[in-house]
Amino acid sequence: MHQAVRPVDASAVGLVEQAQDATAPPGLLFHHANEGRPLATPWQIAALRAQALREHDLANGFILDCACGSGIQLAAYAATLQRPVLGVELAPERAQASAVNVRSVAAHTRSMDEAWFLNSFVVCGDGTDAEGVLSSLGEGRFSVSFLHLDPARPRNSRTHALEEMQPPLHRVLEGWAPYLDDPALLLDLSPRLTSDQRDEVETIVDAVWPGVQRTWEWTSRGRGRVDRLALWLGRVADPSAARRFVRVPSSLADAPVVLTSAATPEAIEARHHPPQRGEHVSILDAALMESGLMTEWLRIAAPDDVGRWACVEGRRPQLHHDRPLRLDSGSRTLVQATGKVVELLKFPLDESTVDRLVETALEHRLGSVKLRYDLAPNLQPKLQGSLDRQLRRRHGDRQGFVAQHPHGEVLMLCVCPSPARETDSI
Ligand SMILES: C[S@@+](CC[C@H](N)C(=O)[O-])C[C@H]1O[C@@H](n2cnc3c(N)ncnc32)[C@H](O)[C@@H]1O
Repeated sequence: MHQAVRPVDASAVGLVEQAQDATAPPGLLFHHANEGRPLATPWQIAALRAQALREHDLANGFILDCACGSGIQLAAYAATLQRPVLGVELAPERAQASAVNVRSVAAHTRSMDEAWFLNSFVVCGDGTDAEGVLSSLGEGRFSVSFLHLDPARPRNSRTHALEEMQPPLHRVLEGWAPYLDDPALLLDLSPRLTSDQRDEVETIVDAVWPGVQRTWEWTSRGRGRVDRLALWLGRVADPSAARRFVRVPSSLADAPVVLTSAATPEAIEARHHPPQRGEHVSILDAALMESGLMTEWLRIAAPDDVGRWACVEGRRPQLHHDRPLRLDSGSRTLVQATGKVVELLKFPLDESTVDRLVETALEHRLGSVKLRYDLAPNLQPKLQGSLDRQLRRRHGDRQGFVAQHPHGEVLMLCVCPSPARETDSI
């Protein structure tokens, strides 16, 4: 049984959890229910997606989110595209929170009298049952222009198997296909899906719309992590890009860094080579590596410099190269550390040897050295604290870091480029 409510008529009575999303404008508070908060899409991501959707020419009809949770993405689509939305949510309190959140966003954007708001709905019920959902809206012929799906996944699931998604992908696609003549969909999937699982998703999509246009999108908010993995389909896919990487900036005011590629990613392999003084070492963004767009990015950041990969997996992909990287302000966010090797340290770093590193750092006029390799969690803060304290009081005016060469025990002391030179090339 499906029950529809218009956000304009929604009541917040009974909803107790209300929170400020750290990425939303101050004062725009969202309701959550049944532990919906951790499932909710961060406002900034939701808003960026909605802005990306604005670039596409959508058919008439609802913007549908058939598992809308707290309705954050739903509300972002509604306010950005100024089009009526239709949210569907199985859990009654979450459906109620969604309707209230759409209204909060309309109030925040002073749109309470706009047609898009007055004609929006949230339905409590099964989002795979298209007929049931649409018939709950009352008389009239309703159509859908775009479908968004962000299915629930069991928390702490290790496998992230496709069968664990609720609602199941194939049932959503089969249920709504008759209402999407010209498909336009965004599937918001687990960022941990393997390449085989991505193939499985494509097989499910092809069973409904064979050969439909598609663009995979990896979104990262930094810290080297892929935060979202999405598949844009049909009318909203980029015909010139099979893959896209989006690095979300820390501020809502800045534009994201977007890289695209039509090509199948080239395999990147680590090669054994001894570290050398004078070469450059860069620790790059692990999420960019995971997206398969690293090679494209390096064509711009390190032109004519093939480089040597020392490490391609884990949190700190490490590239050795002959010339400084060429970075603009956007691509700088994809570099954890970059610099020129000035010393190879052939002793293990611990509390008894940290003073030796300080001496060497001072010989190179370093006023700060960051440890950019994995150390025991109890040792890292002690060593970093000692380095910070000892170097701060001395004469160094340059910045550096220590990276570990993956083969052998050797550590590399690197000097970062000076800020004056950093504007275009470091
Ligand atoms: C990851 S959450 C969506 C979060 C949402 N994007 C937001 O911004 O708040 C997925 C939601 O799907 C709901 N769900 C699961 N099975 C469903 C079904 N068959 N029909 C409708 N909703 C369903 C869950 O209750 C959950 O709230």
